[in-house]
Order: sequence, then structure tokens, then C-alpha cells
Amino acid sequence: MIDKVKTVFWFISKPKYIPQIFQVLKRSKNKALEDSHDEALNWCKQNAISQTEALKKLGIQSPMIQIDQEYTATLNKANEIAQNCPVQMGGEGATSFLHTLIKASNSTKIIETGVAYGWSTLAILLAIKDNKKASLISNDMPYIKMNNDDYVGCIVPEDLKKQWTLQRLADVNGIPKALASFNNQIDACHYDSDKSYTGRMWASPLLWNALVENGLFIADDINDNLGFKHFCESIQQTPIIIEHQGKYVGILKKQSH
Ligand SMILES: C[S@@+](CC[C@H](N)C(=O)[O-])C[C@H]1O[C@@H](n2cnc3c(N)ncnc32)[C@H](O)[C@@H]1O
Repeated sequence: MIDKVKTVFWFISKPKYIPQIFQVLKRSKNKALEDSHDEALNWCKQNAISQTEALKKLGIQSPMIQIDQEYTATLNKANEIAQNCPVQMGGEGATSFLHTLIKASNSTKIIETGVAYGWSTLAILLAIKDNKKASLISNDMPYIKMNNDDYVGCIVPEDLKKQWTLQRLADVNGIPKALASFNNQIDACHYDSDKSYTGRMWASPLLWNALVENGLFIADDINDNLGFKHFCESIQQTPIIIEHQGKYVGILKKQSH
């Protein structure tokens, strides 16, 4: 009860995030699917391929760039900032893989959802830093009641921020806003925010529809529930699935033929 009251006060103090309440309420309609972790995990395990194989299947000939080796000083600094951060946020995913994908695909209009410390943000910004035409819009709503607002994206160095816009909104407002900024045409998206079944099924079609031919849809933690699997089935696409530290990432390349 006290927890619920605290949640209500948190939203009252940050009214721009109130639309997220309605998204969360919708989850009760999908109760069984929200709890489909085991089935989703099995599907991921059965279909996962190595990261190297995935790059080849996506038509990327260049080898994987290990960002901690390529940008050692930047990554060391980022690790130090994250370790000293007074709040604990969501951790890093398959950042070298993401970096390699974005760099090799020459993506210029990129959206990501879910920033936290900013590991995926950093991986993407490092991939586009030499292409001044490229930019990244990230959308993030802070964790409810965690007071982490000031630390969202804290590991992103100042010199990489020129190509970065951070929107602090719930996805339900933030994704349409980011898409509008890119005239509804994007080259790549990385989805790592509301990973509930309901959240994915709402956001995925919006992002997918805005992807250009050969655009990349990259979804983190697809083992959480059947949302990503069902989305792929709804658009009749077979995803590429990779594993990273026991979690799974799904990738779709938009091709009309
Ligand atoms: C797993 S973390 C992101 C990690 C990040 N991609 C990285 O690689 O470091 C998820 C982030 O999404 C945010 N988030 C969760 N639900 C959201 C929503 N509905 N709208 C916007 N942001 C959301 C969380 O507060 C958190 O900052």
C-alpha cells in the first residue's frame, strides 16, 4: 500500500510520465503473455546463432569490433563513472555487436529506447562519430521512484554529445516524437526500454514501419516474454537471434523481397 502511494506521488511530481500508467494498466489484458518467459527463453535458445555468424547473415563482411579494445580509454572512463554512480541502473548488453552493426551498416538516422547509464548509447555514438550526417535520438523515462534522472546517460562523454538528442519521455510519447524528428524514416533502432509483452507489441510496429529498406531493428532481452516472437510472426519475418551473457538479442533486417 505504502509502495503504491509512493508510486502515485512519484507520477504526480513528474506528470509528463503519467501516460506510462495507462500503458502499464494495459498489461493486465495480456497476463499470460506477460508471464511467457520460459517459452520465450526456449525459443531463443533453439534459434540463437553466434554473433560472428549473425554479422555474416546480415551481410556484414567486416570482423566484429571489440569496443573495449578499440576505445580502451573511453570504456575505462565509462566503467569508472558507472561504478561510482550513486544509483544502480540497467546494465550493458551486446555493445560490441551493436557497435559493429551500426558502423558497418552506415546508419545515419537512429533511434534507441532505454538509456540508463548509456552503454548502448555509447556504442552507437562511437559507431557514428566519423559520419557527421548521422545522429541518434534516445528516449528514456527514468526508473520509477529511483531518483536516477540526473544519471541517465552519465557515461556518455561530452565530445560525443554533438550527435545525440536525449528525450526524457515515456515511450508512448517519446517514440512518436523521435520518429517525427526523423520524418518517420529511420535506418536503425535499438529497443531496450519497456520490455513487457504489451510494451513491445505497442512499440515494435511503429519502429518497424518507419525503417527504410535494409534498415535494422535490434531488440534487447527478447527472452523476457513472447513479445518479440509474436511481433516477428505478425510481420512474417524470421529474426536473427544472438546470445550475450545468458540474455538474447533479436535482429531483423527490413527487406521487401
Ligand atoms: C535496461 S535499461 C537500458 C540500458 C541501456 N540500453 C544500456 O545499454 O545501457 C532500460 C531503460 O529504459 C527505461 N524505461 C523503461 N520503461 C520505459 C518506458 N516505458 N519509456 C521510456 N523509458 C523506459 C528505464 O528507466 C531504463 O533507463
